[in-house]
Amino acid sequence: MIIRNVRFVKGAAAWEHLPTDGRSELAFVGRSNVGKSSLLNMLAGRKSLARTSRTPGKTQEFNCYLVNDHFWFVDLPGYGYARVMRSRRNEWTRLIVRYLTERQSLRAIFHLVDSRHAPTERDEAVMELLRESAAPHIIVLTKADKLSGNERTRSMARVQRMLTGLAIETPVVVTSAKTKRGREDLLAWIGDLIP
Ligand code: GTP
Ligand code: MG
Repeated sequence: MIIRNVRFVKGAAAWEHLPTDGRSELAFVGRSNVGKSSLLNMLAGRKSLARTSRTPGKTQEFNCYLVNDHFWFVDLPGYGYARVMRSRRNEWTRLIVRYLTERQSLRAIFHLVDSRHAPTERDEAVMELLRESAAPHIIVLTKADKLSGNERTRSMARVQRMLTGLAIETPVVVTSAKTKRGREDLLAWIGDLIP
């Protein structure tokens, strides 16, 4: 898969505002600050196409980017961010759950987990949710540049153990938006899914 061009088209805050053209959608899901927008930039080969921030809660809508005029990257708001008002948080969670379970045009899901920490309860809940989803998904361990080789191995094993415990067979890839580690693997994975 070669990404020739990516452009931001719109931010959707409600189901009705999501794309209606039927093109395939690839979604980036994970807790706030895990590195979803950074991964999108890394795959797109663009430094600051998607806005990133040290402060969690940067992405507040379903941001839709058209790739090669052919399919969508959908950058989701993060989950698990305590400072978002409770009412809005429930609203988002409902929308995210609905999107992941009901979206017809969803072809693939990148579930991002911070490689430095054990997956949280919410991460585990999303893994279980994705088990029921029709779209293929991949676990993306992020920020691997912050770990040593040994720590990366341990991080990978920790997630594998959790997936085995949940009886989930999902590929896991170690990535870094900083060093572009994992980029080729992810692009190959996308290429297999999007003809
Ligand atoms: P929300 O939009 O708030 O849900 O966050 P997000 O998941 O989109 O995270 P974002 O891409 O904004 O990144 C959060 C912070 O982590 C930023 O300061 C990024 O620079 C940093 N970051 C993301 N990926 C990496 C990485 O691979 N390595 C390092 N060192 N930092 C990263
Ligand atoms: Mg973001």
